[in-house]
Amino acid sequence: MKNLLTAVLLSAAGLAHAAPPASPPSSPIYGVTLPEGYRKWQFIAPAHETPPLDELRVVVGNPVAMAAIEKNQLPFPDGTVLVKLAWKRVQSTESPAAYVPGAASTVQVMVKDSKKYASTGGWGFGRFINGQPADLAQHQTCWACHQALVKNHDFVFTRLAP
Ligand code: HEC
Repeated sequence: MKNLLTAVLLSAAGLAHAAPPASPPSSPIYGVTLPEGYRKWQFIAPAHETPPLDELRVVVGNPVAMAAIEKNQLPFPDGTVLVKLAWKRVQSTESPAAYVPGAASTVQVMVKDSKKYASTGGWGFGRFINGQPADLAQHQTCWACHQALVKNHDFVFTRLAP
């Protein structure tokens, strides 16, 4: 009995000293992680990327993003998170005129934090493939393109689909 108690106490102590759960993988440069629960966020708009990427995409926003969109508020407030999901575009086997999502390709994230990301318009960027962040070189492209093409819309391309 005494031995059992000792064993229980020792294992409890072991648990208490177990390593903390690993922090979720984050993007280079920005340290952006995949936000929890984004699959249930509200829909903003779809997009279609022509070959060679050949992708179907959906952009969703967290509640802060959706409230800003509803009020036409620009720039987006701190706490805004936008997520773009992408899939390879494949022909439906049931109805060949339709294109449907095939394999998931990337999940991309933009997080607004005007202090932390002051040098990139207030946005932090993350691109994930199978839950893992893409490499540094890919993350060096994000800001350049968003800055060049959508300066007048707080560096965000997607508008609420009518
Ligand atoms: C060559 C230009 C280009 C580059 C580089 C680029 N994007 Fe985008 N991004 C777009 C376009 C265009 C859209 C609009 C939706 C679409 O067409 O897929 C978009 C949309 C997004 C969105 C949804 C919000 C919005 O602005 O519409 C996120 C999130 C995003 N990109 C993240 C990233 C990340 C992270 C990177 C870098 C790893 C990146 N982007 C690199 C062009 C670019």
